[in-house]
Amino acid sequence: MRDLLLLGIETTCDETAAAVVRRRADGTGTILSNIVHSQTEDHAAYGGVVPEIASRAHVEILDHVIARALRASGLALAELDGIAAAAGPGLIGGVIVGLTTAKALALATRKPLIAVNHLEAHALTARLTDKVPFPFLLLLVSGGHTQLVAVTGIGEYAKLGGTMDDAIGEAFDKTAKMLGLPYPGGPAVERAALKGDPGRFALPRPLHGKPVPDFSLSGLKTAVRIEALKIAPLSEEDVNDLCASFQAAIVDILSDRVRCALRVMRQKGLKPSALVLAGGVGANQAVRRVLHKVAADGGTRLAVPPPELCTDNGAMIAWAGAERLARGLHDGLDVSPRARWPL
Ligand code: KG4
Ligand code: ZN
Repeated sequence: MRDLLLLGIETTCDETAAAVVRRRADGTGTILSNIVHSQTEDHAAYGGVVPEIASRAHVEILDHVIARALRASGLALAELDGIAAAAGPGLIGGVIVGLTTAKALALATRKPLIAVNHLEAHALTARLTDKVPFPFLLLLVSGGHTQLVAVTGIGEYAKLGGTMDDAIGEAFDKTAKMLGLPYPGGPAVERAALKGDPGRFALPRPLHGKPVPDFSLSGLKTAVRIEALKIAPLSEEDVNDLCASFQAAIVDILSDRVRCALRVMRQKGLKPSALVLAGGVGANQAVRRVLHKVAADGGTRLAVPPPELCTDNGAMIAWAGAERLARGLHDGLDVSPRARWPL
């Protein structure tokens, strides 16, 4: 098999992104360009992503982002082997913009279209950056998803556990909002936590020790609110201490739940080649640190893409498209955008 060159388009949330990736016949890959236009400023005043603003911004900027990605790759459209776009899950207005643009490009160039599941793209990024073979344990922690999945091949995903309420990224975002920190909450909470005392507030670790690797975050979020109300008005030191205590709870929860998932995977007779950390929360240094140890204790290693490939980007979509196309998988122009699309 020869090399594959893929354009990837990502528009499922508030990043407008496009990238070109090369997948070599031996299964390794290289990012030739990776352009991310973050709409953070457009949404900051609202404390979260406004879907209508997001989809209008994607319409305005996507053509330019794609043109920049192609220019930076040094390739022309005609030289590509396929056009990949995230077809969900996500905010449907944005998904429609990205997928429709990909369909138009595929139609005009007569190249195959690959409709990529955004979650699968997060899951497969570590194969691009770390050459992780199957099977592996995936911890997917983003703004909308918190899941532990046994991955045994492309399209072969067995969910071991997930959240019963909020996603972990969502818990970071809501905690930040509650404490008056800027959007997006994750990086703001992480920065404040560095200056705070993680031992000052005793916060709960829901589901600790339970034999199924599920998560529950809403009780933790409520506990932060109760502690904050008790000591309001909050000083900067209070906010830092609350963030540090919250992040310490998240780190404990993740470490306990991942240890549990590693046990469950072994009980299923699967030996994970790695613990793969994916999704925006994977950019958090405290989370990365603890999971290195959990993986090593569990007889495996942590594989985590660099922070800029943990948050949403086009390279992960292009790479997932390449992985699928290499196996002869592509889609018709009638493929539908999907707001919901479980792995
Ligand atoms: O994967 P992603 O970019 O978008 C989704 O598909 O959701 O993840 C975004 C989420 C947000 O909730 C954001 O607050 C969180 O990832 N996040 C972080 C950090 N950077 C981003 N959470 C904790 N620490 C961080 N450094
Ligand atoms: Zn994502």
